[in-house]
Amino acid sequence: MAKNIINKTVLITGGAKRIGAHISEFLHGTGMNVIIHYRNSASSAKKLKSKLNKKRVNSAEILQADLLDKDSLSPLIENSVKIFGRLDCLINNASSYYPTPLLKINEDSWEELMGSNLKAPLFLSKFAAPYLKEVNGSIINITDTHIKSPKKSYIIYSIAKSGLVTLTHSLAQELAPEVRVNAVAPGPILWPDDKNEFSDIYKAKVVKETLLKKTGDPSNISEAVYFLIAKGLYTTGHVLEVDGGRSFSL
Ligand SMILES: NC(=O)c1ccc[n+]([C@@H]2O[C@H](COP(=O)([O-])OP(=O)(O)OC[C@H]3O[C@@H](n4cnc5c(N)ncnc54)[C@H](OP(=O)(O)O)[C@@H]3O)[C@@H](O)[C@H]2O)c1
Repeated sequence: MAKNIINKTVLITGGAKRIGAHISEFLHGTGMNVIIHYRNSASSAKKLKSKLNKKRVNSAEILQADLLDKDSLSPLIENSVKIFGRLDCLINNASSYYPTPLLKINEDSWEELMGSNLKAPLFLSKFAAPYLKEVNGSIINITDTHIKSPKKSYIIYSIAKSGLVTLTHSLAQELAPEVRVNAVAPGPILWPDDKNEFSDIYKAKVVKETLLKKTGDPSNISEAVYFLIAKGLYTTGHVLEVDGGRSFSL
């Protein structure tokens, strides 16, 4: 049973849909105030905000930003702090994800995949750090279990997520002792919305490769995030695999 963590505020990037939306709703359910960041998913973000504020008045807000726009990163943090007067946790969840076979790599794919998965988490952490220090807060980076043996053709995504693990380790040292920095590495939780991205044969292979012989659920990620925020108070610089044991076969 999740413990109540009333009066704390969390910013979830990419928090309007899929895993990010589940994290937003789950943490809200533990008593936290949530700031749901979105880029294009305005309607999902508004719906989620309204649903959460109906449960508890003035407990959820939304902020729009394209994390590739370097001038959006500091304002995203500053505006988040203004809304509820504090920031206890930054969850770097937003991510772009698509294959980049070597011969198709170009500057745009580099900027987009590195920008959303690595550069934005770094700069958001930098801008959030003073506020997180004030309240002994934490940062949680959402990485990917697959980087242990990178998925073929996903070169830039894989190096960006690997960088995010290194960033987790670096920031844990940089921001200690006031701020804890951890990561959650999901395995197969939700298949991409684009039905053509993965074939049924590939999906079956992935499931077979997990020790638990099934895909996970967004709630598995939310519970891991909750643990790292509220329970794992002696844990920093850690990557928590939530992958059904898939990393053993990678
Ligand atoms: N799904 C899985 O099974 C799985 C497996 C391993 C790792 N992960 C990791 O877990 C996290 C959540 O996964 P997911 O599948 O739920 O993610 P997702 O749906 O692929 O993406 C989450 C959100 O990221 C936002 N985003 C992408 N590029 C952005 C940018 N330039 N600026 C601002 N926002 C941007 C999008 O927001 P808008 O919709 O508002 O544009 C999107 O809704 C990701 O970090 C992912 O890498 C997921």
